[in-house]
Amino acid sequence: MTMQPLVIGVVGAGAMGAGIAQVALRHGHRVVLGDTNDVAIARGKAGLERAFQREVDKERMTAHDAANAMAALTLGDTSKGMDPYAPCDVVIEAIVERLEVKQLAFRALEDVVRDDAILATNTSSLSIASIAGACDIPGRVLGVHFFNPAPLMPLVEIVPGLRTAAAATARARALVDGWGKTTVLAADSPGFIVNRIARPFYSEALRLYDDGDADMATIDWAMRELGGFRMGPFELMDFIGHDVNYVVTESVWTALYFDPRYKPSLTQKRLLEAGLLGRKSGRGFFDYGDDATRPAATEDRALGERILGRILAMLVNEAVDAVHLRLASPADIEVAMTRGVNYPRGLLAWGNSYGPARLLEVLEACHLDSPDGRYRPSPLLRRCVREGRPLPV
Ligand code: NAI
Repeated sequence: MTMQPLVIGVVGAGAMGAGIAQVALRHGHRVVLGDTNDVAIARGKAGLERAFQREVDKERMTAHDAANAMAALTLGDTSKGMDPYAPCDVVIEAIVERLEVKQLAFRALEDVVRDDAILATNTSSLSIASIAGACDIPGRVLGVHFFNPAPLMPLVEIVPGLRTAAAATARARALVDGWGKTTVLAADSPGFIVNRIARPFYSEALRLYDDGDADMATIDWAMRELGGFRMGPFELMDFIGHDVNYVVTESVWTALYFDPRYKPSLTQKRLLEAGLLGRKSGRGFFDYGDDATRPAATEDRALGERILGRILAMLVNEAVDAVHLRLASPADIEVAMTRGVNYPRGLLAWGNSYGPARLLEVLEACHLDSPDGRYRPSPLLRRCVREGRPLPV
């Protein structure tokens, strides 16, 4: 007997929901895609048609398979309830990032799905515990965190909550692995793996700028040319958009009880307030107008090495601390940062070749100037240096 592919539900037909639906349809599932807003449903459907047509044009899919994928899609208007999700084996929620709204959606889903259906959330910043806590069967609730755009980005963080059953985690992970994604296991902690460990790439760059140590173009140059990152922090923040990037920074900082290590920058907040969101609004840190000229980097190598050393010290410290706090395995941390945000190397391996003692020195020197706790080294970094052993990789 051949196994029927699972029926997948996706709640919310916005950027993430439509992308996740596309991935599931591409892998032969029947998909129920619903939204409370009929404009979003129509836009989601049109986007899927365009995406599959592109696949056909590029000869990655036959016209027949594309037609079958669209025929396997059921659209649902969920303003009238969650009934369309009744046949689903797995439902992935990708609606607005508000706890009360998500909790209501999960309760409504529980009323219609079978008891063994898995309920997953794509939340970036809410705890899985807080969503599962509103459910009758919290053991089947977990986080399945895709990156944007979901069809292209290979990484998915699998996030069991405190009460998630191991079998539900294993089933969800096997499903997403089967979609050709790279999955990593993350603890239910603010920012999960990537959105937490990547914070210093942005915030330490901003700190260097705010302290008058270097200009933005030079910081970007140092991270690209000396660090091997595809984009410098300022051009990357402009690319992501300050409405997204600043909000993630602020939410991680708030969720971690205002730990100074994650403190946002007023420089970035003002851009957001002014509506200068980056590339998409024509101006952010840099001007993207037709006749705009980009400021030139100083290209001072010694300064560049200092910039890279400081941002790298903060990034590696964050990765080591995630190991220390058992937020993820060292191997998953390396995979998450290279596959999720395209870092040129895993941070723990990079920390070992840079030298844990040298990184500790950088942090301690910064701490002398700013003794507010921002530069406190992870206890595990200190221990590795004290015992003369490498960082765990
Ligand atoms: P979006 O704003 O593009 O789409 C959200 C959709 O949900 C809208 O179409 C809205 O009409 C619909 N919706 C709102 N309440 C609903 C309800 N009660 N029932 C059904 N549909 C409802 O948002 P986006 O960017 O797709 O984000 C969705 C989720 O994915 C959020 O939890 C976000 O944190 C998370 N996420 C977003 C990423 C991103 O880069 N945009 C990356 C990873 C996760």
